[in-house]
Amino acid sequence: MRKLLIFLAVAAVAMSIEAKTIVVYFSATGTTKAAAENIAKAEKATLWEIEAAEPYTDADLDWRNKQSRSSLEMNDPEARPTIKQCTNIMPYDTIFVGYPIWWGICPRIINSWIDNNLPQLEGKTLVPFATSGGSGVEQSVEYLRKTYPALTWQDGQLIGR
Ligand SMILES: Cc1cc2nc3c(=O)[nH]c(=O)nc-3n(C[C@H](O)[C@H](O)[C@H](O)COP(=O)(O)O)c2cc1C
Repeated sequence: MRKLLIFLAVAAVAMSIEAKTIVVYFSATGTTKAAAENIAKAEKATLWEIEAAEPYTDADLDWRNKQSRSSLEMNDPEARPTIKQCTNIMPYDTIFVGYPIWWGICPRIINSWIDNNLPQLEGKTLVPFATSGGSGVEQSVEYLRKTYPALTWQDGQLIGR
């Protein structure tokens, strides 16, 4: 009995000091995926990819075409592309949220993911990171803070290539 109690006490301490961090990301062409993998490795964190139920094709990603799927979504603040699978964020205190910059902010699928996980995200620390073709991350973080004021957003990080 005494041994069991000691074992449970040790397990409880181990669990409480274990880093409860998850890296959640969306990546259309692999750049953010590579950044997310590096962060997860460095943080010894769980890695989770947000996948669109309907994957983005090259034509969908054509930002020069005003009628492409990405242009239509980014022009509609209410667009919420469907996600393939839901994430269990319950065990995690810190959540890195990664995305490519689209039209200066995060792709709408990030909104889908956040909306799907409200209100469980409240009280957790959210750390945005992004990759881009040159834009900074600041505007996207400002947008996230304004859109989800009840959530705790840290300053974002742009991950270079
Ligand atoms: C629809 C679309 C819009 C984009 N808008 C921007 C932008 O506003 N600023 C920028 O620097 N890069 C922009 N990019 C480039 C991506 O942010 C960049 O290539 C990113 O690293 C891609 O990440 P991924 O491979 O994880 O999808 C855009 C790309 C796409 C497909």
